[in-house]
Amino acid sequence: MKKTVIELFAGVGGFRVGLNNITTIDENGRAIENGPFTFVWANQWEPSTKSQHAFDCYNIRFPHAVDNSNIDISKVDKKSIPDHTLLCGGFPCQDYSVAHSLSSSHGIEGKKGVLWWQINDILTAKKPAFVLLENVDRLVKSPARQRGRDFGIMLRCLSEQGYAMEWRIINAAEYGHPQRRRRIYIFAYHKSTKYYKAMKKSSPAEIISKTGVFAKEFPVEEINAKSIKEFDFVNGYKDLVEVSDKFHAAFENAGYMIGDKVYTVKTKAIETAPITLGEIAESNGVDAHYFLSESQRKKYEYLRGSKKIPRVDKNGHEYIYAEGSMSPYDELSLPARTMLTSEGTTNRSTHIIMDPKNGKLRILTPVECERINQFPDNWTNSGMPEKRRYFMMGNALVCGIIKKIGIQINNIIEKED
Ligand SMILES: C[S@@+](CC[C@H](N)C(=O)[O-])C[C@H]1O[C@@H](n2cnc3c(N)ncnc32)[C@H](O)[C@@H]1O
Repeated sequence: MKKTVIELFAGVGGFRVGLNNITTIDENGRAIENGPFTFVWANQWEPSTKSQHAFDCYNIRFPHAVDNSNIDISKVDKKSIPDHTLLCGGFPCQDYSVAHSLSSSHGIEGKKGVLWWQINDILTAKKPAFVLLENVDRLVKSPARQRGRDFGIMLRCLSEQGYAMEWRIINAAEYGHPQRRRRIYIFAYHKSTKYYKAMKKSSPAEIISKTGVFAKEFPVEEINAKSIKEFDFVNGYKDLVEVSDKFHAAFENAGYMIGDKVYTVKTKAIETAPITLGEIAESNGVDAHYFLSESQRKKYEYLRGSKKIPRVDKNGHEYIYAEGSMSPYDELSLPARTMLTSEGTTNRSTHIIMDPKNGKLRILTPVECERINQFPDNWTNSGMPEKRRYFMMGNALVCGIIKKIGIQINNIIEKED
């Protein structure tokens, strides 16, 4: 089996950086790939801006004039995508609900612009052996009024397409990485693979705590098989529309799905000490514009302080919006908090550190943000404005997590024919 990969919603290429263990850029700005995977196609298109900074960055680091696609994924003819063994991508948590389509009583229609359906169409057209996805952790709980529905829809789609899958919500800092970013990782494998046949012999408890891809790289404390919850998202639900209308479940941070059953249990990480902000911070001095002026310092003091603000909701009801206080700056002895796309703007969630050289308060530099996600230094220094470099890192992922998952996927593919 070839180690071919496609990267969807590629952004600035976090999956590729992780899977191919990229740590350096050469003098022409190209990534030096050290890993075993051959990327045969990537797609990235930013709907909200005319400029395509993420794609431009991807294309500079991985120049493949033909194989990097910069169009809306919904406009791509899925059959034209090159054959691949692994499909990977980080996609948004949206409303995955479906209804019967009006045009045909048999058709099923998801909401327009919901990117899960694009992934599902590629699975139908290309049937890759393996799938690796990343999403925000609330995916398993959405929507609030029908908890677990969206994840149930995903499970049903994957199951109908012949996949088994496991998932884990991982806080990167608990496993030695520099950011407390909590994300769900999903690994699916098709029933035609040797791996599927081998895993079928394991119990859900073994897969979740010992033999699965996640358990091997991200160890968890022993689980009690009796605490595993089991849900059926096939029997009792005629089609996806019925899953969409009726399914709900309390999914935990780990689980396994095969056939018509899904098993879920709360796991506890066996932790490794994280990389700290102090370890990734630039220690030889940074440009003056990263330091806080007196008025900015006061603004951050307010933003990070506790407050109670009277507000009016959209129905005209008055309420008090309250938030607690944060420490005035982020401790260098701790890992970073979750980086958001607003990082670097005057915002409560922007990191503020005490500069290691002169002790003055400042925001992070774009290079420090890249380090927090374990990208090579200056990865996004590809011609985009500095503001966008922060944005890209808020959208990206902790590449070190993908690197570890990639080691396991590589081992699995080696054992296939
Ligand atoms: C969460 S980010 C993924 C970031 C990526 N994993 C990385 O390491 O940079 C999702 C990406 O999907 C892209 N996107 C959104 N809608 C799209 C569409 N319709 N077609 C293609 N890409 C899309 C966004 O521009 C964004 O870069």
